[in-house]
Amino acid sequence: MPLPLPLPLPATPSSQTLKIGIVGFGNFGQFLAKTMIKQGHTLSATSRSDYSDLCFQMGIHFYRDVSEFVSSDLDVILLCTSILSLSEVVGSLPLSSLKRPTLFVDVLSVKEHPRDLLLRVLPEDSDILCTHPMFGPQTAKNGWTDLTFMYDKVRIRDEAICSSFVQIFACEGCKMVQMSCEEHDKAAAKSQFITHTIGRTLGEMDIKSTPIDTKGFQALVKLKETMMGNSIDLYSGLFVCNRFARQELENLERALYKVKETLLQRMNEDHDQERAGS
Ligand SMILES: NC(=O)c1ccc[n+]([C@@H]2O[C@H](COP(=O)([O-])OP(=O)(O)OC[C@H]3O[C@@H](n4cnc5c(N)ncnc54)[C@H](OP(=O)(O)O)[C@@H]3O)[C@@H](O)[C@H]2O)c1
Repeated sequence: MPLPLPLPLPATPSSQTLKIGIVGFGNFGQFLAKTMIKQGHTLSATSRSDYSDLCFQMGIHFYRDVSEFVSSDLDVILLCTSILSLSEVVGSLPLSSLKRPTLFVDVLSVKEHPRDLLLRVLPEDSDILCTHPMFGPQTAKNGWTDLTFMYDKVRIRDEAICSSFVQIFACEGCKMVQMSCEEHDKAAAKSQFITHTIGRTLGEMDIKSTPIDTKGFQALVKLKETMMGNSIDLYSGLFVCNRFARQELENLERALYKVKETLLQRMNEDHDQERAGS
């Protein structure tokens, strides 16, 4: 008699394995999928581009037909598209084909925008979890331990499914932070957006390693490389779809101007002293 196939173990005793369908199988969607598969969840995907071959290698069912994807009886639809394409992508999902109430999760790097859109367009019986894993393929190449996972339970009725999804990150050792989408966008404009902006600015200057790099400069070169590795769509989305970002960009401009003014003033004082001494 053939031996029964081993069943995948649930991530923790209290969580269940999930059927997760990823919409947007680019850089970040692929990155998340690897850990979800490792944990025993069943993955499928759909995307604008054809990822059939890659998905086949990863053991993921790839749907070219978005209607088949939506009607494939998923526990979770995980939105991993670019910030700027979210409205178009969600608008093109045939939501009337959903078989049952489904948990929609987004991982966009801005949070008020997906929250407002999903509340507006999803069926009333769909649950909504807005999340932001504060790491990516570069910064988490050695695992997710101690990296931050932000989430906001915007509209949750099926606590068990939501909790099983959140557990994916908790059991990898992430620092779990529950906060509102508004709080996220305020904090992210001051932190993540500024980090990307400095990295992009250094990219614009084309800074490169020199034979006499200090540790500080090495950190800047690394920052430039990491930030330039992200798509321009991602960076633009951080600005266009976060209402707090413009103010932070202006604060940065003002701060750079003030630093320059301090230096010029100091230079003028030194010249005045030299002239007075001669
Ligand atoms: N990268 C990170 O470190 C990171 C970290 C946390 C959160 N996130 C979030 O994760 C999401 C994906 O990020 P990413 O790094 O993969 O790069 P991205 O450039 O922000 O998004 C790429 C994804 O968006 C899809 N897409 C772009 N324009 C589209 C359009 N007009 N119509 C349909 N689909 C479109 C692409 O589909 P195709 O590939 O099929 O063309 C691809 O799946 C973003 O919302 C980002 O904010 C990223």
